[in-house]
Amino acid sequence: MAEHLVGPVDDFPPGTHRVVRVRNLEVGVFNVRGAFYALPNVCTHQFGPLCAGNVSGTTACDASTGWEIAWVRDGEIVACPWHGLEFDITTGRCLAAPKVRLRSFPVTVEAGQVKLTL
Ligand code: FES
Repeated sequence: MAEHLVGPVDDFPPGTHRVVRVRNLEVGVFNVRGAFYALPNVCTHQFGPLCAGNVSGTTACDASTGWEIAWVRDGEIVACPWHGLEFDITTGRCLAAPKVRLRSFPVTVEAGQVKLTL
């Protein structure tokens, strides 16, 4: 494991994400309300470029929403651009198949620089 500089923190404002290349691996780096997350840019379905997808939220209907359909987790879900499979950015879990989980990479910010450990 080694740290890799991927750019100045100003290049990753809250609510944005970018795909960076480290060695021969593409990684999506996400800033979710000031917290950084990184996921491989490979969808578990048919290996689409997951992190090139849109980030938004998802719908839920459970006790937490009073059993009403509600929009939740805005800014925490990335949808694969190929077939729309959704993943939780904060955990790497697939919403449709929770046993499927992407590897997450540690991200730190030091001296104004975003660093990825992989
Ligand atoms: S390749 Fe991502 S949903 Fe199909």
